[in-house]
This record gives sequence, C-alpha cells and structure tokens, in this order.
Amino acid sequence: MYTELCKKVGIDVPIFAFTHCRDVAVEVSKAGGLGCLGSAFMMLDEFRENLNAMDKAVGDRPYGVDLVFNPRRPGKGEGLSIEQVDDLVWKDIPQQHREFAEKLMKEHGVPEWPEKDDKPSLGGMAYEVAMVLTEEALRHPKCKVFVSAMGTPPPEMVDMVHAQGRMVGALTGSPKHALQHKAAGLDFIIANGWEGGGHVGAISSIVLWPNLVDVVAPLPVLAAGGIGNGRQVLAALATGAQGVWTGSLWLCVQEALTPPKLKDRLLGADLGDTVVSKSWSGKTARYLRNEWTDAWEGPDSPGPLPSPQQWLLTTDARRRTERYAEQGKVVDVAFAGAGQVIGQIKEVESTRDVMARLMSEYADAFERVAATMPG
Ligand SMILES: Cc1cc2nc3c(=O)[nH]c(=O)nc-3n(C[C@H](O)[C@H](O)[C@H](O)COP(=O)(O)O)c2cc1C
Repeated sequence: MYTELCKKVGIDVPIFAFTHCRDVAVEVSKAGGLGCLGSAFMMLDEFRENLNAMDKAVGDRPYGVDLVFNPRRPGKGEGLSIEQVDDLVWKDIPQQHREFAEKLMKEHGVPEWPEKDDKPSLGGMAYEVAMVLTEEALRHPKCKVFVSAMGTPPPEMVDMVHAQGRMVGALTGSPKHALQHKAAGLDFIIANGWEGGGHVGAISSIVLWPNLVDVVAPLPVLAAGGIGNGRQVLAALATGAQGVWTGSLWLCVQEALTPPKLKDRLLGADLGDTVVSKSWSGKTARYLRNEWTDAWEGPDSPGPLPSPQQWLLTTDARRRTERYAEQGKVVDVAFAGAGQVIGQIKEVESTRDVMARLMSEYADAFERVAATMPG
C-alpha cells in the first residue's frame, strides 16, 4: 500500500484521517497513517492545547491539521478582529431566520447556551482565525501537512507553509477547482466525492477520483468520499489515487468524542439515511437526515442563507446540540455530519483496530483481484 506520497509525508500507509478528535488523529498517526485535526470549531487556545497534547502523544510520527479558508471572506482580511467579522456577518442575518432556528431548538427542548457572554462566533471558519491557527501549527514541527477544507487557500498561507518545508493540500469535488488548487502550487489534491460526509459537490467518487488523477497529474490525489473498508481503499488506489482521505469512518471509534446518543444513532443508520443539505453551513454538505435538515426544506422554512451567514446563524444550535446530545430528542435536531458510508459502520472499534482491518481487508481484496489475471 506504500505510495510516493507516503514517502513525501513520512508515513507507512496512505491512510489519512480527518477528525475533530485529537486522540483519533494520534492513534491513526501511530498506526502508520496520518491523523489530521479539524479546526473549524476551534479558537487559538483550544487549538494550541490540542496540538501540544498531540505532540506529546504521537511519538516521532507526523500529523496534520485541517483549516477553513472560506472563499467568501467578510471584511476581506482588512485586519478586522474576529468579533468585528462576526458583527459584520450578523447584520446580514434576517430576524425571520434567527426565529426559525430558535423555534427548532425550543420544540426539541434543547437548553440555551448557559454562558451568556460567550457569543456564537465563526471561529476557525473565519479567515482571520484560520491564519492565526496556521501560524500556531507551524510552531509544531510534527505538524507536516496543512489541508484547506473549503476552496483554494490564500497565497500568503501557502507561502508561509512552504517556507517551512511543510505540505499543503485542499479538498475539492470538481475538476475546475482541482485545477485552481494546482495553479496555486499545492502539493496534493483531495478528491471528495458526493457520497462523502461534510461539504460535497455533485460528482460521485468513482467518477471523480480517476478524473481528478488525470486532470491534476502529476500532482498526487487522495481519494475521499465513501471509504470505510479495505476493499474501498483498493478501489481508490486502482483509480490512480495515491492514498485515501477518510472522515465518517472515525465518528464511532472508541476514542471519538461523539456523544454516545449520537454514536448510537450513527451506528443504527442505513446507507440511505444521509442527505445533502445547506441547512448548517449554507453550502451543500452531507449529514444524517434528521428533523433539522427536514425542517429547513419544509414549507415553513425561510430557506438557508448563503455561507458564512447560515454558518454563523447555526453555530449556537450546533454547540447546543453537541453539548446536550445526551438528551434523546436533541439528537433529532443535532449537527450530525456523516457520509453514506456511515450505513456500513455497525460497531464501535478502536482506531488501531480500524487501521489494522483496513490493511488486512485491502490485502485480501488485492489477492482476489490479482487472481483474476490470466496466467
Ligand atoms: C462530521 C464531519 C465533519 C467534517 N468537517 C470537515 C471539515 O471541517 N473540514 C474538512 O476538510 N472536511 C470535513 N469533513 C469532510 C472530511 O474531511 C472528508 O472529506 C469526508 O468525510 C470523506 O468522506 P467519508 O465521510 O465518506 O469518509 C467532515 C466530515 C464529517 C463526517
């Protein structure tokens, strides 16, 4: 399973894991892959604390970070504070939308956020914060890989990371954006198919992966969207990808901080239980279908706002449903990003066991395919 990209990153197997949980990222890196910590919901203190802990736990292994440079940048980076950026975005959020989100929270008995002074913020979703997080991550030598979640990262970020000899990649679901990433000098592209969790485009993985491999050649491509077992890893590498980028696979592992009630819901989901919706971020993203995603499509809905307005509007609902997800009904309106592959994940495993399983399933599948060759 060793590819050229493994050599460049300094890992043993080309399995990349996107996760919001540092312990999951550490275990993936320790098992020979690359754990990548998602920073979208973090401010500097929490981010730094996570990286410090990862540095201690990961031994001599590398890890990565995932940052959000929203292409629609309020304030256009004119040196605004995050509070000023938030104020600017709040001004574009109609009262009707605020009331609709709050009504859903009330109907499902979701308690209010108790810290009244702690206002909802775009946090790591804002350019201003993402740049500060990049600078912080560069202070951690084991952080070798920087990934932009949304759009081509700004040139000042790419230059900063390259100046320290680290690598930059970015997700995309379309050939057009993949070419923009290549033109920006990125080191690899993540081809994220429509069936994946989080933000997605309109093209399915099995069509997108080989296409982007050709479109951005010789740049390495990681295949994402729909990978949960070793057979799917083999399929991805067969399309020319140099590795896989996985997300939903880690939501229900032992080390994941996913609230137990939400974990139960995810483990019980079928292949068809997710939906692409703009209801949380204002951009198309895949979630477990629930009463929140349905309500925003329903007859009373004012319709989702664009990003980042919808994202800021729903930040309060997201943090409240995460904190109170222990209460059954809350899960019905909870933020529950998940790809279609969640329907094939039926038990809680340790991260280490998942890594071992991927490799042994890959080897079995490889043997089966090799046996089909004449002679
Ligand atoms: C709950 C959840 C949150 C996600 N948040 C982000 C994010 O903040 N940044 C990012 O680059 N990708 C994010 N993703 C997408 C993943 O990076 C990855 O591309 C996707 O999960 C791959 O498809 P899969 O879920 O089928 O493995 C998220 C995915 C999930 C499931």
